[in-house]
Amino acid sequence: MQVLELKPLKNKKLKIILVESEFPVDWSVQKPKQENGIIDDLYFISREYMDFIKGLIKQYQPDFAVEDKGLRESEAMADDEDEFVSIFKREGILYNMVGIPEYALNHISSPLLNKKELLKKFSDEIEKYKEMGRVHYNDLRFQQLTVWRQYLKDECKLEEEEMKFKVRESWMMMGVLELAKKIDKYNITGLFICDKRNFDGIVFLADELNIQHELVSVKKVVKGLTEANSIDDVLKSTVLEIMPIKVKKREREEKILHFFDTDDYCSPFDINMGYDAGFDIVIPYSKMTADQVTKLVQDAMFSRKVGAPTVYFIGGSNVEEADKIAKNVLDAIVSPFESSVIIDPRGAHTTASAIVAKTIEVARLHYIETIRNKNIAILGGTGPVGQISAIIASQIGASASISSRREDHVTNLANDLTIKAGKKSEPIKGIVTKTEEDYYNLVKDADIIWSVGKAGVQMISKKLLKQLPPNKIVVDINLVPPYGIEGMKPNFYNDELIPGIFGIGALDIGRLKYKIESKIFEMATMAKGKKIFDYNIAFEVAQEILFGEEIKIML
Ligand SMILES: NC(=O)c1ccc[n+]([C@@H]2O[C@H](COP(=O)([O-])OP(=O)(O)OC[C@H]3O[C@@H](n4cnc5c(N)ncnc54)[C@H](OP(=O)(O)O)[C@@H]3O)[C@@H](O)[C@H]2O)c1
Repeated sequence: MQVLELKPLKNKKLKIILVESEFPVDWSVQKPKQENGIIDDLYFISREYMDFIKGLIKQYQPDFAVEDKGLRESEAMADDEDEFVSIFKREGILYNMVGIPEYALNHISSPLLNKKELLKKFSDEIEKYKEMGRVHYNDLRFQQLTVWRQYLKDECKLEEEEMKFKVRESWMMMGVLELAKKIDKYNITGLFICDKRNFDGIVFLADELNIQHELVSVKKVVKGLTEANSIDDVLKSTVLEIMPIKVKKREREEKILHFFDTDDYCSPFDINMGYDAGFDIVIPYSKMTADQVTKLVQDAMFSRKVGAPTVYFIGGSNVEEADKIAKNVLDAIVSPFESSVIIDPRGAHTTASAIVAKTIEVARLHYIETIRNKNIAILGGTGPVGQISAIIASQIGASASISSRREDHVTNLANDLTIKAGKKSEPIKGIVTKTEEDYYNLVKDADIIWSVGKAGVQMISKKLLKQLPPNKIVVDINLVPPYGIEGMKPNFYNDELIPGIFGIGALDIGRLKYKIESKIFEMATMAKGKKIFDYNIAFEVAQEILFGEEIKIML
C-alpha cells in the first residue's frame, strides 16, 4: 500500500504543463448515486478538445501525460478503446490517471463520513420536530439541534474542501512524480490535465518540489449557434473552437531594501520597520559616507532586472552627511533602473511630520484651524527631529525658533535651515538656552512648544510651566525618563499639564510616526520611477492618516 510522500526528484529536471480540462472535474468524498445507470452530468470529450491536446503534444513533446481521475473508474479510462487515451498511446507517451487511491480515500474519509451520518440524524430529528408542529424557538433542545446541525455542516464542508483540494492535489502530484521517475531521461516534460480550480494548489506544490510549470487555460467559442434552430442545425453548421490561453504566472521579484546609515551601527528600529513593511531582504550598511555610496548603488542597480523592487533608505544621526548620501544615491540611479529613495535620518522626517500633524489635530480641538502665524518654540531643536520640524513649521508659515546651548552653532544652523525651507517660508530663528530664564523667555510667548531634545534630558520643569500664561500646546517626544517636559506622560493626548496648557506625549507621536513610516515603505515599493520620500511626502501621509481628505497642507 502506498503512503503519501512527496519528495523532489533526484537527478532529474521536471517541467509540467498544466492544461485546463474541457469540463470541470467533479469530485466528492462519496460517489453520487447513479439512477438507471445514467449519470446526469456525464461529459464526453469533444473532437475539438482532442485536436487541441494533439496540438499541445506537438508543441511540448511531452514524455508523459496525466489526467485528474475525478470520479471516474480507472478501468473505464485506461481502456485502449478510449479515444482520448489513445491519442497519447499512439504517440508513445506514457499516460496515467491520477487521484486518491480507494484505500487512502476510505481511510481519510471515514471520520468525515461519520460526521455526515451524524449530520443526517440531526437533520432528521429537526424534520420530525417540524412535522409534529413543535417548533418553538424558545425550546432549548430545538435550539441545540439547529446549532449543532449548522456546526456539523460547516465542519463537513471544511473537511471535504480540504480533501477535494489539498489532499487530492498532493496525491495527484505523487502520481506525477511516480511517472516521471519511470522515465529514463534528465529533462522530462509532462502534460497534466486537470480542473482549473486545482492550478493554484498544484503550482504551490510544484514550487515546493522544484518542478517548473506552465499553465494553459482553454477558451471555448461556439460559432453559428445563434442561427441554429434545431439539433441537426447545431450538429451540422456550428463550430466549436478551442483556443489555448497561456497563463503567465508573474515571477515574484524579491523586495530589497538597501539601508545606508551614517552611524556606527544601523538602527534596528528601521531594519525592523523594513521587514515589517514586507521587504524580503534588508541590507544594512553602517558608517556610510557620501563618497562610498555611488558604487554601492550602481552594483545594487545593475545586478537586478528592470522594475525589480529595490528601495534605498537613508538614515543615521548625521543629517548633513545623510543629505549628501541622498544626493549621491539619486545621482547614481539611472534610467531604466529607477527606484525609490526614502530619506529619514534618525526618523527625523517621519517624526517631525507626526509632531506637526498631531499639533494641528489638537489645535483643531481648540478651534484653532491653522498653525500659520503661530509662535513655535523648538527646544533642543538642533537635533535631526528639531531641524525637520522647524523646516515644516516655517514652510506652513509659522514662526519657528530652535533652541540650543551652542550660540554660534544655533545661529548658523537656523540660517541654513531657513535657506533649505525656501524663499516663501518664514525665517527660522536660533535662540540660545542655557539657563531656566532663557527657557522662560523663549516659551512664555510661544503658542506651541515642541520639546525635541536628547533622550533622557529634561528641558522644562513643572515650576517653569506654572509661571507660563495659558493657551499653549506642548509636545514632548522624549520617551526616556526624565521626559523633556516635567509632568508629561508618554500617552498624553490633549491632556492638561496645568490649566490651559495641553500636552501630547511621546507615545502618541510614536504611534503616528510608525504608521507614516509603514505607509512610506509600502508606497516606495509600489512607486514607479525615481521617487523621493522625505518629509514632504511624510507630512502628506501624516495628514491623510489623521484627517483623510479634509485638510491638506502641501509644503
Ligand atoms: N517619539 C518618537 O517616536 C521619537 C522618534 C524619534 C526620536 N525621538 C526622540 O526625539 C528626540 C530628538 O531626537 P534627535 O535625534 O533629534 O535628538 P538628539 O540629536 O539626540 O538631541 C537633540 C538636541 O538635544 C540637545 N541636548 C543634548 N544634551 C542636552 C542637555 N543635557 N541639555 C540640553 N540640551 C541637550 C542638543 O542640542 P545642543 O547641543 O545644540 O544644545 C541636541 O542637538 C530624542 O529624545 C529621541 O529619543 C522620539
